[in-house]
Amino acid sequence: MATALVVLAAGMGTRMRSDRPKVLHEVAGAPLIAHALRAGLALGPERVVVVAGPDMDAVAAAAHEEWPEAGIAVQAERLGTAHAVAQAAPFLQGFAGDVVVIYGDTPFIRPETLSAMAEARARAEVVVLGFEPADPARYGRLVTEGEDLLRIVEWKGATPEEREIRLCNSGVMAAPAELLLPLLDQVQPAPSSGEYYLTDVVALARAGGARASVVLGTEAEMMGVNSRADLAAAEAAFQARARADLLETGVTLTAPDTVMLSHDTVIGRDAVVEPYVVFGPGVTVETGATIRAFSHLEGAHVSRGAVVGPYARLRPGAELAEDARVGNFVEVKNATLAEGVKVNHLSYVGDAAIGAGTNVGAGTITCNYDGVSKHRTEIGARAFIGSDTMLVAPVRVGDGAMTGSGSVITEDVPDGALALGRARQVTKPGFAARLMDILRARSGKGA
Ligand code: UD1
Ligand code: CA
Repeated sequence: MATALVVLAAGMGTRMRSDRPKVLHEVAGAPLIAHALRAGLALGPERVVVVAGPDMDAVAAAAHEEWPEAGIAVQAERLGTAHAVAQAAPFLQGFAGDVVVIYGDTPFIRPETLSAMAEARARAEVVVLGFEPADPARYGRLVTEGEDLLRIVEWKGATPEEREIRLCNSGVMAAPAELLLPLLDQVQPAPSSGEYYLTDVVALARAGGARASVVLGTEAEMMGVNSRADLAAAEAAFQARARADLLETGVTLTAPDTVMLSHDTVIGRDAVVEPYVVFGPGVTVETGATIRAFSHLEGAHVSRGAVVGPYARLRPGAELAEDARVGNFVEVKNATLAEGVKVNHLSYVGDAAIGAGTNVGAGTITCNYDGVSKHRTEIGARAFIGSDTMLVAPVRVGDGAMTGSGSVITEDVPDGALALGRARQVTKPGFAARLMDILRARSGKGA
């Protein structure tokens, strides 16, 4: 059955107290809308429509990043969930399959759950995703009779008996487009709020002779984000699951609760991640690599056997080949370190390529920025960069070449050459003692 995914994301999210639309707030480095879309995309939808509010270009952009062909319907006035789905109708013209409605602020719906809903469509025209939360609070309640879903009542309009029902509405709904779209026009504003409720579609469908049914999901996947506290809770839930997944696949996390992962972090089997490591987006760590404590990585690739940290920072474009070492207080950005390269202490390596087996001494800096443009530093294989070398880019140090400690290297160094770019040392015997005498005499403090 062909599917069209409709993602409701027009809510302002007032309780977030934010200038940003709610669905752009991030969990594990990706906006909520991206998480929701990813969940829905597992259905392999033929069409995707995101219902955004006016002035939500950034929401459209975030959606397009995830799914470039997504249609963006604008809901000018926030008149309720049924009204929101109705705004997607122009994008569903000529579409004959099922419409699946999800919320942009509910990031964790599992693909399995959505597939179960698609299967349940064989038994009923309208399928609603329900759950039984520990605290049903003010969720809409699902009124059922045997296998049948009779209607959904919003908390505000529910009777005391209905409020006793523990089966709640997640908001996710599946129904054939040809049934759902005409029913949306029949929805009347709710007396309690004046909003057009998508939930009313259930009773309307049944009145027309269709069946409705419920598929059960877990409370964890229904987690919605309405406030900063919810956002933090969603982050915690994501992290807990992602850490557990890594442990399950054979990654050692010595203190899992202290490691922060991104939505797209990839870590290979037998890699070791020590405490307090932060993974920003775009990191891949291969089998058997070690990320030592207090390191921060984003947009980086760490190959087998490489060791990073403690206290290292890998920024976007950091590419470490096998057995490379990046030690404490070293920052690497947009740079490739070939096999076995060592940058062990207190260095900045940016816009650079370093050949295999090269050793970069403590305090080395690639001076890549002249105030206007960035320039590249190239260092060959098996070179030795003396401690505290300033490599003023663009510059190249050849294979097997050396730089003396404290050098400022402004010219290319040929293969096998030694380059010294520092003032020659002058030593004056006895001068220290004499100088001290002079200084003490001047200060009046005597010997
Ligand atoms: C909705 C359900 C309720 C369910 C709950 C689960 C209705 C009437 N109620 O209530 O049964 O238990 O979700 O969380 O559907 N939105 C728009 N445009 C609008 C209104 C809403 O895009 O005009 C979007 C919101 O951004 C949000 C979603 O739809 O992503 C749900 O809206 P919200 O106002 O949070 O609905 P609830 O009152 O929580
Ligand atoms: Ca809500």
